[in-house]
Amino acid sequence: MDISGVEQRLKEAGQSHLLHLWLELGPEEQAQLLQDLGSLDFQEINRFFRCAMESSSGGEKEKLDSRMEPVPREALGSVTRDRERLETWKGIGLRHISQNKVAVLLLAGGQGTRLGVPYPKGMYDVGLPSRKSLFQLQAERILRLEQLAEQTHQTKCCIPWYIMTSARTMAATREFLSRHNFFGLRKENVILFQQGMLPAMDYSGKIILEAKGKISMAPDGNGGLYRALGTQGIVGDMEQRGIECVHVYGVDNILVKVADPSFIGFCIEKGADCGAKVVEKTDPAEPVGVLCKVDGRYQVVEYSEITSETAEKRGPDTHLVFNAGNITNHFFTLSFLKDVVNLHEPRLRHHVARKKIPFVNAKGQLIKPDSPNGIKMEKFIFDIFQFAKTFVVYEVVRDDEFSALKNADSQNGKDSPTTARQALMALHQRWVLNAGGHFISKTGTQLPAVHSSNGAADQPIICEISPLVSYGGEGLERMVNGKKFCSPLVIDEAGVHQPALGE
Ligand code: UD1
Repeated sequence: MDISGVEQRLKEAGQSHLLHLWLELGPEEQAQLLQDLGSLDFQEINRFFRCAMESSSGGEKEKLDSRMEPVPREALGSVTRDRERLETWKGIGLRHISQNKVAVLLLAGGQGTRLGVPYPKGMYDVGLPSRKSLFQLQAERILRLEQLAEQTHQTKCCIPWYIMTSARTMAATREFLSRHNFFGLRKENVILFQQGMLPAMDYSGKIILEAKGKISMAPDGNGGLYRALGTQGIVGDMEQRGIECVHVYGVDNILVKVADPSFIGFCIEKGADCGAKVVEKTDPAEPVGVLCKVDGRYQVVEYSEITSETAEKRGPDTHLVFNAGNITNHFFTLSFLKDVVNLHEPRLRHHVARKKIPFVNAKGQLIKPDSPNGIKMEKFIFDIFQFAKTFVVYEVVRDDEFSALKNADSQNGKDSPTTARQALMALHQRWVLNAGGHFISKTGTQLPAVHSSNGAADQPIICEISPLVSYGGEGLERMVNGKKFCSPLVIDEAGVHQPALGE
């Protein structure tokens, strides 16, 4: 790479300040910076900045609120209100899985800043008896679901697992999965790819240096998926495998039903090209986006983009009006994804996140600002819902399907390793009860069921069921029906593990 060519490109783009400290760098730092600069398209970045700032400025919030409408009943499927349809939907989903038409795609490129660990979130161990990581739980659910589809349709099948990483998470994710032999999945069916990164910029559009020779870069948001699907050849790979629909989900939900056959079957039955799974939002302050229509088109309005007045609005039934809580759990047909990659994504603008971004000043000093001094630009996965021809929403029960790991235990106690662990164990406890088992205390009295994931009991029952044994509570009767168990109870491929009574 030649410095004068880079200098010229920087000058044309008004970003020459990136080389102001060039002479203070050693040869290795110079080579690295040159390489980093060479990989960036400054004109494109400037354009992204202008468009993003344009749409983020002004009284946008106010305007959005008045244009929002709740999801209409005809677009909504619900595991509680449409109970009689569930088996049919599950059947359709399992048939598609058995025909190798379904892929899952994990969004794992985020930086997990709030959780505060230096490694990818999927590697996190929330402290289950098995010490399984989030990645392992997800991989084992895929294995079990393949088995269920195979048993139902008497044919071998495979659900490929696409994992979107970023420059921040790729190496560690690859190393972790490979060290654990892909948790029993075949290596060729676990496909890692990388989303793009964008520089942080100050409010005047200048790219920020985080060190004398280092640009401040961050992943381009989970909507970076669509560009990456094209540039990394993932759409082509899916086509080659005969995939017809893709279940996309976020890494941090410990309860995620990967490739949920009922959700997939519901979307297929409705002829949807795009769908979203939601849970009822009950607390207006909860940091989840809500699914709604804006100007007649489906959209997720993020918790940061809605006024508290609208978030708190309640209907005559006392439920929140905007209660379709987005849980980053989506369905797409491959043909819709292809249109998104080729036609729609390039037209989408980035969202602006105003942040405190450490920077080096003209004298080369590192400054850590006390208030936001610049922006990060991100696209969101749901920005493309507006292009769907048939969009559907599938409402599930929060305690069964959603408990996100966002914060460290030391923070505010919500969405933490403890709440995630307790939510999974409370769910598994309910599975045992539904299959006819009981929990008793060490003195022999029967213990009540725990229903609330985030407000679990002080001394929760320890109960873990391996996904290799049960995907959604099925197949447990022969092991637990009519039996009494003490905590801790662990059920895995080797059988039922129980402390001897009186221990
Ligand atoms: C997200 C949703 C929000 C929802 C909430 C539920 C988006 C934009 N927002 O918010 O509507 O209510 O989850 O938990 O989806 N990721 C990437 N690359 C990135 C950024 C994120 O792959 O550049 C992945 C993360 O690894 C994670 C998922 O996207 O798996 C969600 O990202 P996160 O930043 O945690 O989103 P939230 O702000 O919690």
